[in-house]
Parts: sequence; C-alpha cells; structure tokens
Amino acid sequence: MSYQAEYLCSVERPAHFWAEKAEALPWYKQPQDILSQDNEGIYHWFEDGEMNTTYMAVDYHVDNGRGEQLAIIYDSPVSNTKSTLTYRQLQKQVALFAGVLKSQGIGKGDRVVLYMPMITEAVIAMLAVARLGAIHSVVFGGFAPHELAVRIEDAEPKLIVTASCGIEVSKIIEYKPLVDEAIALSAHKPNCCIVLQRPQVTAVMHASNEIDWHEAMAAATPAPCVAVKGTDPLYILYTSGTTGKPKGVVRENGGHAVALKYSMSAVYNMQPGEVFWAASDVGWVVGHSYIVYGPLLHGCTTVIYEGKPVRTPDAGAFWRMVDEYRVNALFAAPTAFRAIRKEDPQASEMNKYDISTLKTIFMAGERLDPPTYLWTAEKTGKPIVDHWWQTETGWAICANPMGLEEMPVKPGSSTLPTPGFNVKILDSRGNELPPGQQGAVAIKLPMPPSCLTTIWGDFERFKSGYLSDFPGYYCSGDGGYIDDDGYVYIMGRTDDVINVAGHRLSTGEMEEIIAAHDAIAECTVIGVHCPLKGQTPVGLVLLKDGVDIDADELQKELVAMVRKEIGPIACFQRAVVVPRLPKTRSGKILRKLLRQIATNQEVAVPSTIDDPGSVAEIESIMQAQGLVSDRAT
Ligand code: COA
Ligand code: AMP
Repeated sequence: MSYQAEYLCSVERPAHFWAEKAEALPWYKQPQDILSQDNEGIYHWFEDGEMNTTYMAVDYHVDNGRGEQLAIIYDSPVSNTKSTLTYRQLQKQVALFAGVLKSQGIGKGDRVVLYMPMITEAVIAMLAVARLGAIHSVVFGGFAPHELAVRIEDAEPKLIVTASCGIEVSKIIEYKPLVDEAIALSAHKPNCCIVLQRPQVTAVMHASNEIDWHEAMAAATPAPCVAVKGTDPLYILYTSGTTGKPKGVVRENGGHAVALKYSMSAVYNMQPGEVFWAASDVGWVVGHSYIVYGPLLHGCTTVIYEGKPVRTPDAGAFWRMVDEYRVNALFAAPTAFRAIRKEDPQASEMNKYDISTLKTIFMAGERLDPPTYLWTAEKTGKPIVDHWWQTETGWAICANPMGLEEMPVKPGSSTLPTPGFNVKILDSRGNELPPGQQGAVAIKLPMPPSCLTTIWGDFERFKSGYLSDFPGYYCSGDGGYIDDDGYVYIMGRTDDVINVAGHRLSTGEMEEIIAAHDAIAECTVIGVHCPLKGQTPVGLVLLKDGVDIDADELQKELVAMVRKEIGPIACFQRAVVVPRLPKTRSGKILRKLLRQIATNQEVAVPSTIDDPGSVAEIESIMQAQGLVSDRAT
C-alpha cells in the first residue's frame, strides 16, 4: 500500500486502522473496544483486549515453529563473550526467572526495578516481569545512586534486579554498591534484591533478602504467562523533564505491542526471521522498543551488544557485528557514527567486512545532522533513515516508512509523519502555521497506540506538561517546521531538556545540584554544540558576594557534584563564572535567550528584561568562551 493511502486511513479512521493492525497479534481475547476515552478525556487503546506481551513476543513463536530460531545474539567485546539463545531457550529462561520473581511475591501490577548492564539477563528479566503482568522499570546503568534512588522512591518496587558489574570499555563498574547506596538513600525499601554475579566481579551480599540469580534459577519452577488487559501497564520508563524530578512514562501493554509490531514492517521493513540490531542500551526507550519488544514481537532475531562503536576495539566494531551476525537492519544514534567517522574518516575499517546483508541504517535519539547523514550514506551505500521519536511515544513519530514506500530523502528532515501521528506546527496561541514556518511541533489527539497515557503517580503533571499548552494536541517539547512537501524538520527542544550523545538530560536538574554549592548565588545550565555528542552541558555560574574561589577549583568541584548526583552520563565538564545573568524583572533567568545565543540565532530580548545591558555582556562572554556555535545544517 502507498504511504499516502495508509497515512490518510490512519488519521481519518484511527479505530478502524488500528483494529486491523491489532489482528496481526495473538491476543487471548481480541479487543472490541479499540479506542476509548476515560473520565479525564484521555484516550486509551484496546481496553477490553486480553493478552500477555511476553506470550506474544516469546511463547507464541515457540508454539508456531520458531522454537529453534535464534531469538537473541549477545556479543560483548568488553568481556570477550558471545552467546545465543533460541526462542525455545529464551522461553525456558524467562519462565524460570518469572518463577523466581513469583516466589518472591511478584504478581500483576507490582513494580520491579532493573539496574542492569547490556547482558542477556537484562532482557530475560524484563520479559519475566511482563510474563507475570508486573511492571518493570529499567534504570540506565550510567545513572548514579541518587538518580536510582529517585526512581525507586517514585516507582516503589517490591524487588530490584541487578548484576555485580557493568563494563565500560576496560573499566569495571561495580553495580551492587551503587544499588546499596540507592536503597539507603530511598525512603521506599524494596523487599528483595536479586544479583547476577558476573565473572569479572563477585558482589558482596549483605542481607538475608539478597538473592543470587544463578542459585535462584537452579531452584525455580517455571511460571506461566498471566493475562492482562490491553490498558494494563507494561513498564515505567523515567525520562528527563524540565525539573529535577524525572517523569515516569507509563506504557500500556496492548497499544505498545500493536504499534511495535506494525512499526517492524511499516517503518523498518523487517520480515520475521531477519536480524535486527539496535545499538542502544536497554535503559533507554530505543532499547526497550527495538532491542527487546519490537524484534521479538515480530519473530526476528535481536542483538545485544555490550560495547561501543569505537574503542571496543576499534571503529570497525559496528561493521564486524553486521558481518558476523548477518544483520539486516542497524539502528543507532548519529553520535555513534560521528565517533566512527572521527576515528576512521575513510571508512577503511568498514571495507574489511561484508555488510551486504544490511538493508537500511536507522538513526534517532537526536537530529541526524546532514554531514553525518552524507558521510554514512556515501561510505556504506545504504539507505539512511533519520526518524524522530521520544520516550513518550515509544516509536517513531516521523520516519521514512521503508516497509510502505521508500520516500526521497531530504537531509536534515526526519521525512514524513508515521501513520497514526497527525503532526502539526503551532504558534504560541495554538494556531496552525503554514509550511516553512517554525513553531511548536504538536500531535493532534488521539495519538496512536503506545503513546503514554499518564506519568506514573502524577496525572496532573502529564496533563500540564503535555496536554495543556494546546488543547486537543500533545505538545512534543520540540520545535520545527514542515515544508511544502509535508517533510518534517525537528530543530531541537523548546524547553530545558538537552540531548547529549543521544541521551536526554535535564538542565534544570543540573542547576539544582550546582546551586547547592556554597559559593554559588545563581546558575543556569545550557546545552552547547559538541561535534561528537551533539550537545554538552555548560554551567554559567554567579558567585555569592565576597566569595573568592579559584575558577578551575570551582569547576572541578561542580563537575564532581554533577557526576556524583546524576552520573558520568551527564558529561558535565565546564562551568564558567559570569558577573550576572540576563533576567526578567521578576527574577527569572532568560534561558531561552541564552539558548538563542548559544546556537547563534537571532536573540529575541523580551520587554520584561530587567537589565538590557546584561544581554550584550553575556553574549561576549559566551563568544569568548567558545560557547556559541551555528548548529550544523
Ligand atoms: N554505565 C556506567 N557508566 C557509563 C555507562 C553505563 N552504562 N554508559 C556510559 N557511561 C559513562 C562513560 O564511561 C563515560 O564516563 P567517563 O566520563 O568516566 O569517561 C560517560 O558515562 C560518558 O559516556 P558516553 O556518553 O558513552 O561517552 P564515551 O566518550 O564513552 O562514548 C560515544 C562516546 C559517542 C561512543 C557514545 O556516547 C555512544 O556510543 N553513544 C551512542 C548512544 C546511544 O546509543 N544512545 C541511545 C539512543 S539511540
Ligand atoms: P528521548 O525521549 O530520550 O528519546 O529523547 C527524545 C528527544 O530527542 C526528542 O524530543 C528530540 O528532541 C530528540 N530526538 C530524538 N530523535 C530525533 C530526531 N531523529 N531528530 C531530531 N531530534 C530527535
């Protein structure tokens, strides 16, 4: 079917469109109530359907002839390990681990936090939680104990699953002490902690409620799949908002399964049995959707890679993987390809491998800058797809729909709205803007299946953060425009969220940490252009009167504070002391204006500014400090 016909049907007759797509999945009870609204007016999909996501992703395939096909390929250059699991082996492991969880009292609706490195057991644990109708919340291993504690306190898990360590290139990161610290910091205490001991480190077990993964598995009885409703939550995934408190995006089982299954063919052009590799981490939404659920729901083989695009051991790592596992589609962040290009500009490492099985390379997590697009397209000779999405949606809002109709590429654009997403550009009053004009990127309600329906424990924040700015629309938090051909250009966040190496971080959270330093009167954190990571955070700090502190020493202390509180993943490395910050008369720092200076855009000075002279001053400081850059276009 042509893209246009498919798209029109999806926005004009959404219930009809998605009812048909839902038929591609093995429900226990096929949904009849396709699209409904609750008392608050929030849309839900497949409310009366009965299902189990793990059954759909694993057991169903074993029952239908895929038992001997590889479900998971694990490749870890950092631990020098490779292994595989067929669907049948995966089913056995998942059922056993579900048995372990069940014996610890985990059942439908209970939360389980996973703090795991990129190993097969992370996927087994996710699927085991889902098998019981419980709710997982995976926390990325690069987050520090404080961040983990905030998530534990919010999700209130009965149980935590972790491993003895993660491995960052050659650095061993012991996880258990981080988990212990997080539990100590959190007001909520889980009943139990299951620890997978890896060969590199043996974690010290302290309490009677700490359980060894292998011992528990050896004694476990397999647990069957538990039926849930289409609208029951599958997982909570925390993402950065504009404040220090992360937002727990809630994903419902039914919509998630239907959207991901559809995306595997419509967006990624994958056939069951093919090999899909998302080079991300299970701690991010890309990992949830396209390392774990999407490929398995579609009967594909998925790849778990514990390594980096470079340094493990070289810039040929991605191409080696494609060759060795006959990968058909590769999905990674643009920053990964910038890292490869930096080390191997001629792509001579690539020429050592056979990448002929690769049909398409997909990129997301940040805008695919045209130079990176052009380099990757030229060197690989493959179609390159930039697609735009968010933790909140769980799948692509805009993409080149490779399985429907390959559209001509326009570098810098994430192509066209994916079927189901009615994308509009709005001005500040909510009026639709004509082609070419930049504004807020919004999605007309109802959103398609899989998109969030609330923030865990904070429905008001969901409403005020996403649905209040433009009634009848979901506000994405991104700015951009649509051209005459309907192509969507996402130009960056309009709020205080930045994107560092494809990771979403809150500048507000960093500001809260920096403001706690004794010497600091006020501060703001902005994202500045970084040729490798897209953006990196920089603090602009104002000292308290009378404070005399060496700027380098202060920077060191602030860097250490952010690293301790958020983790190394924040990549906070610079703090610049400034004499004052531009503010409104009511004392609010003009962050938008600072963002405009940093990206060399025309600066809109609001009439409410307190001291107009502060703008020229901060502009010249930022210029002198190398904090101003045109974004690559
Ligand atoms: N556990 C613990 N620490 C971690 C971690 C994890 N899972 N992941 C990253 N870190 C640490 C790194 O060791 C590094 O620490 P350091 O400051 O002590 O060196 C810091 O966090 C920053 O990591 P990273 O941003 O990964 O930088 P890098 O220089 O190690 O690698 C890239 C640069 C571009 C290769 C890397 O960022 C990359 O591969 N990015 C792709 C991101 C991605 O897949 N995003 C998902 C969206 S699709
Ligand atoms: P996350 O929720 O971590 O996936 O981050 C989502 C944010 O990353 C979006 O709101 C965008 O700002 C940015 N983003 C992700 N993919 C793209 C893309 N293809 N083009 C532009 N921005 C993107």
